[in-house]
Amino acid sequence: MSKRAAPVAPVRAKDRFLVFGAPDIHDEEIREVVSTLESGWLGTGPRVARFEREFSSYVGAPHASALNSCTAALHLSLLAAGLRPGDEVITSALTFCATVNAVIHAGATPVLADVDPRTMNLDPEDVARKVTRRTKALLPVHFAGRPCDMDALMAIAQRHELVVIEDCAHAIETEWRGRHAGTIGDFGCFSFYVTKNVATGEGGMVVNRREEDAFRIRVLGLHGMSKDAWKRFGDDGYKHYQVVAAGFKYNMMDLQAAIGIHQLARVEPAWRRRREIWNRYDEAFAGLPLTCPAEPDADTRHAFHLYTVLVDETKAGLTRDAFLEGMTQEGIGVGVHYLALPEHPHYRETLGWRPDDTPHATRIGRRTVSLPISPKLTDEDVSDVITAVRRTLGD
Ligand SMILES: Cc1ncc(COP(=O)(O)O)c(C=O)c1O
Repeated sequence: MSKRAAPVAPVRAKDRFLVFGAPDIHDEEIREVVSTLESGWLGTGPRVARFEREFSSYVGAPHASALNSCTAALHLSLLAAGLRPGDEVITSALTFCATVNAVIHAGATPVLADVDPRTMNLDPEDVARKVTRRTKALLPVHFAGRPCDMDALMAIAQRHELVVIEDCAHAIETEWRGRHAGTIGDFGCFSFYVTKNVATGEGGMVVNRREEDAFRIRVLGLHGMSKDAWKRFGDDGYKHYQVVAAGFKYNMMDLQAAIGIHQLARVEPAWRRRREIWNRYDEAFAGLPLTCPAEPDADTRHAFHLYTVLVDETKAGLTRDAFLEGMTQEGIGVGVHYLALPEHPHYRETLGWRPDDTPHATRIGRRTVSLPISPKLTDEDVSDVITAVRRTLGD
């Protein structure tokens, strides 16, 4: 419970509840979806092709393949990388379950490294300690939109001849020393889930360098059917296809790309708005018993995807879960990114992971709270979040 003694009206009444991560949808997206519906081509088609071109040009990658989620993007990148049963993939203990589930579905074994407590990103020294003869890939996650130390991670990858697959679910705008996240390793996997910086409802993209990998990802993403199978019902006549692999149903639809094209066109103003909100939170929370996110690092670009505060019971006088509850009662939607992966029973039971093995990720996961930072927030919404935080802390 919050520290407030007497019940008072919440900052926002139930009918004005501030939904965490609500997407910022404009008329352009709505009109494009309607035109797509009217065009009769709802599935993978010309709008997906346009979204791929515009996305690859935005991040500066030779190839971009649109899929129906970042989870699919991770899965197919791991398959394109040629992983086999017994191979190990090192990733962060502080990530969404999809990161390691994709490794498991590709038949390999995920191995966790701990995070740096300041950046919350993979600690390269711990990664180096986890490399074995079986390690085949590194899977860095650019947590909250802050780039990982890609120089250190690429050096480890080069030394041990490892494939690097970047989980860029939070990192559409992220840059590391002038290079766009997703273009530094061999594959970059992006998410367009509803709460993400570019939202299509569900959606994902792989960017990569080698033509043959992009081809394999496209084929595996549409049942394993041969090239351009999506055109088979087009206006230049029926096309036979050949099944060349047992693939998956991971293709993006034009209906999703219709939203993505316009979201991507506004990616920069949306980023600037999130940066403004981030700065307002930093100022407002400076004197409070909370740990705010570290400053963005020099010579990098932070995507400002998540604003995560740490609630330490001994300083704040309430537990993290009580803080979550207090914010919800105040009418503000909050999130948790993330409980460290070893906290989940499936991984403890099947892979023997223990919370104590990655202590920084575990400590963060037990204290972290994500506050709303969608570009849809008005100045008044941001003030309401700040008031709710103060009241929940009894300030
Ligand atoms: C770090 C991370 N990786 C992967 C994913 C999976 O993305 P998707 O929901 O598009 O499959 C997410 C989604 O929340 C994520 O946050």
